Amino acid sequence: MKEEDKLQLVNKQHKIRKEQIPKHLTIPHVMFAVEKEGKKETTLCFYQGNFGYIEGKAGKKYLEQEVALALEKLFIRGMKEGQYFAMISGYRSYERQKELYEESVKKHGCSYANRYSAKPGYSEHQTGLAVDISCASVNYQLEECFANTKEYRWLKKNCWKEGFIIRYPKGKEAITGYSFEPWHLRYVGCRAAEIIMKFQLTLEEFLMV
Ligand code: DAL
Ligand code: ZN
Repeated sequence: MKEEDKLQLVNKQHKIRKEQIPKHLTIPHVMFAVEKEGKKETTLCFYQGNFGYIEGKAGKKYLEQEVALALEKLFIRGMKEGQYFAMISGYRSYERQKELYEESVKKHGCSYANRYSAKPGYSEHQTGLAVDISCASVNYQLEECFANTKEYRWLKKNCWKEGFIIRYPKGKEAITGYSFEPWHLRYVGCRAAEIIMKFQLTLEEFLMV
């Protein structure tokens, strides 16, 4: 991937075109946490092959190829050090983001939705560079309590080694526009990730916008 593609800024001020679809979407060889239909239970699944369907909910298994490889390496690095993660959600089409945003507004109201969910056309999940992950001790939920786990502490220290950053850190809400999301990783490549994580920056501060 080109440097400029890895560093694409998508936030409340920087839109992504409705038509932009990642070039090489692929399913990473990692464990996925999947909620059983209609139940609160979560199961772990391993997907192989290409489902050839990236619209709607099914798309969330996919990531841009380089990011998928980096996530596999990150999970293996974690495993070697006793830290186990599962992927929850990766790529989302413009339409899927629209459904999710509207669901969130209906459930929690506009002001809460805007703190956690991007409007369609403003989510970096549409780039294929963002991924939500969690761990067993919080039942694979995407909740702030993930930040209190040993897995998160490991992640914060090590994610840059495979090119990822914690995209929405605590205390940087005014810059990123979103509440603390310890589960949301963004791939930017190792060079940028090392600087961002070591100096506790956001992508906005790194790009100086
Ligand atoms: N949760 C992030 C902000 C998104 O919806 O893209
Ligand atoms: Zn996310």
